[in-house]
Amino acid sequence: MNALRGVVIETPRLRLRELTCSDAAFLVALLNDPDFLHNIGDRGVRSEADARHYLDVGPFASYAAHGFGLWCVERADTAEPLGLCGLLRRDTLPHPDVGYALLPHARGQGLAREAVESVLAYARTALGMDTVVAIVSPANERSMRLLATLGYRKTELVTAAPGADPVWLFFPTTPPNSTIPGSPVTEGTRGR
Ligand SMILES: CC(C)(COP(=O)(O)OP(=O)(O)OC[C@H]1O[C@@H](n2cnc3c(N)ncnc32)[C@H](O)[C@@H]1OP(=O)(O)O)[C@@H](O)C(=O)NCCC(=O)NCCS
Repeated sequence: MNALRGVVIETPRLRLRELTCSDAAFLVALLNDPDFLHNIGDRGVRSEADARHYLDVGPFASYAAHGFGLWCVERADTAEPLGLCGLLRRDTLPHPDVGYALLPHARGQGLAREAVESVLAYARTALGMDTVVAIVSPANERSMRLLATLGYRKTELVTAAPGADPVWLFFPTTPPNSTIPGSPVTEGTRGR
């Protein structure tokens, strides 16, 4: 099953897998959620065709260039897509950063933390990354709380994209106190 579905990480409640064009409708919903628009930005995705273009220039381009990117977070038992979580490589930041967003009904259950923690562990163990940072808009208290539980601290305001508003750059200060036994799915079992 994993080989067919591009599964990257499995946790007790979640699976993180590569996005596909079949995720277009889910992406239209997530990328137009008011909190996504407010905290992350407007990706201009209003239709499934827009979502497929977003996939081409965003996640698919990143998978091809780096072997990682934003992945679909889905419920392990039902495969319902709940959000995005993964790693981004931006020219404007000194290290890869972790990105995440869940649909509103999936919040408040510790699922974002479970996904982010598993991605940080995967970055360390499977990708050999020694530092993964995060960026958060100054009003996004919920996201900053999540990062604090993972040992992250804000350092300075930075501009992550030309013309964008400043965001807080978070660095890990302590090794995460892992409670989630996320399992990376090995390269050999993955399929595209
Ligand atoms: C930021 C975001 C991902 C945080 O999601 P979240 O569900 O609040 O985060 P967590 O997974 O850390 O969950 C914490 C909440 O789950 C609760 N919870 C329930 N069961 C839990 C469990 N087993 N483990 C941990 N927390 C649990 C906590 O008490 C906490 O509740 P509270 O918010 O009422 O205090 C979410 O708000 C979101 O998608 N926002 C829009 C996009 C966005 O801003 N992304 C971040 C950009 S930097």
